Amino acid sequence: MRRPHVSDMLDTQMGMDTQALEGEGALGQVIRFHLNGQLKTSSSAPVTRLSDVLRNEFGLTGTKLGCSAGDCGLCTVSINEQQACACLVPIAQVEHQSVMTIEALAKDPLGKRLQQAFLTHGATQCGICTPGMLMAAIDLLQKNAQPCEAQVLDALAGVLCRCTGYRKIVEAILSLSSLSASPALPKSKASPDDLGHAGARQAKLDGQAKLTGVERFAADEVPKDCLALRVVRSPHSHAHFALNDFVVWANQQAGIKGVLIAKDIPFNRFAIFPEMRDQPALAETEVRFLGEAVAVLVGDEEVLRSFRDEDFPVRYQVRPAVLEPEQALAAGAPIVQSRWPDNVLCRGRVLREAQPNTLDQVIRDGALTLRGTITTPYIEHAYLEPEAGYATWNSAGLSVSVSGVIEPMVSVFACTQTPYMDRDELANMFKLKPEQVRIIPSAVGGGFGGKLDLSIQPLLVAAARKFGKPTRLVYGRRESMLSTTKRHPSKLTASITTDEVGRFIAFDFSGDFNT
Ligand code: FES
Repeated sequence: MRRPHVSDMLDTQMGMDTQALEGEGALGQVIRFHLNGQLKTSSSAPVTRLSDVLRNEFGLTGTKLGCSAGDCGLCTVSINEQQACACLVPIAQVEHQSVMTIEALAKDPLGKRLQQAFLTHGATQCGICTPGMLMAAIDLLQKNAQPCEAQVLDALAGVLCRCTGYRKIVEAILSLSSLSASPALPKSKASPDDLGHAGARQAKLDGQAKLTGVERFAADEVPKDCLALRVVRSPHSHAHFALNDFVVWANQQAGIKGVLIAKDIPFNRFAIFPEMRDQPALAETEVRFLGEAVAVLVGDEEVLRSFRDEDFPVRYQVRPAVLEPEQALAAGAPIVQSRWPDNVLCRGRVLREAQPNTLDQVIRDGALTLRGTITTPYIEHAYLEPEAGYATWNSAGLSVSVSGVIEPMVSVFACTQTPYMDRDELANMFKLKPEQVRIIPSAVGGGFGGKLDLSIQPLLVAAARKFGKPTRLVYGRRESMLSTTKRHPSKLTASITTDEVGRFIAFDFSGDFNT
């Protein structure tokens, strides 16, 4: 579906009129608009994204952020009963307009029924897309009480979901199109109330919080007095680098409190498997992939948001990059990690033969052998919630709080699929005991295996430790895709051999995986 009017006007608003609008903001002009039925004023600069105003100025974190580019639809709200991506709307554009967010949906009887239908149909899973989906759905149902499936699909086309496969969401919305007082259940499914037997459908325990926008995802929490982080990343796939007088440089920058470098992490290596720890949280003198972190700026969020990596005093000496397994395995190839001098992280071999050393012979003697080679690319997990979180460091070490709870030395609130692995890796990196590290997992807006690895956590902890304040980091979409691990690309070769009557008698497989 073509997105409605608001983004159509945006190019003009964000392009041609930007300077004029900034000028008005500097004069302290306020913007009046109706928000969830109440008249509100915003003192944000006129070009501030509506999504940022909702979240940061009014605390309405039910409106989620996924891409800040109008692609994912997580920030969908209703403006004058028309769905729109709040990340694409400058606040000046809603002056005298009416904005509704997920937080007000239940006040509308139809909205309440819609939420109930989502719960009944299992249409919310990780929940990061749920507010946007509901706001897109209410836009449709307010205009068309009995939409057909094609109309539902059309209305939802601007909001992505990675978990549900869309079917349950569509079924939930269609269940309301009969105008019945209670949502109809899909045929052959058990009622959520019909508990106690295998196959009975049950409402999700955390479903209600996800449907009303009160669920706490990692970017929804901002500790008091926290410092923001901004990662400076390599523009090269392989380079040696040197940081030039960054302490002096940082002292001259308004809004930047300091810089974090590799030396600020006592043991700068981690991995999913302890015996393979080879991944630095911050590059030391050499970057090995495009987007690798070389330093972290710590300071004021507004200042850091507009900072450009090119302005950071780092000098790169570009080196030949090894990008494919064939290159890495070739004689004389540059060594990527000194710990793995042949550029191989691990090898595996499984062999089963009827008689020892007969595989090649069986293949030669077979009636038919089919061979094939398949290559697969990097695959981004594409969870809709970019990595986010905060950390606090208590330099007094373990202490007992007023409520008698043992407080650890470091606490990390973050989106993670593996809190215990995070705890153990952070303890190892910062030379702490595991019980000195507390991981507080937020709701996770999709992970699919991509949030097993550490990402923001070591940077947050190192900065909190160095600067003695809570620290917060929220990746943008590009940064998330650029810097985090992916499904390994692979090159797979296999042959299958049969005898004269078509029985399989041999299978030979080999694969190289690029890590
Ligand atoms: Fe839609 Fe997870 S429930 S992205």
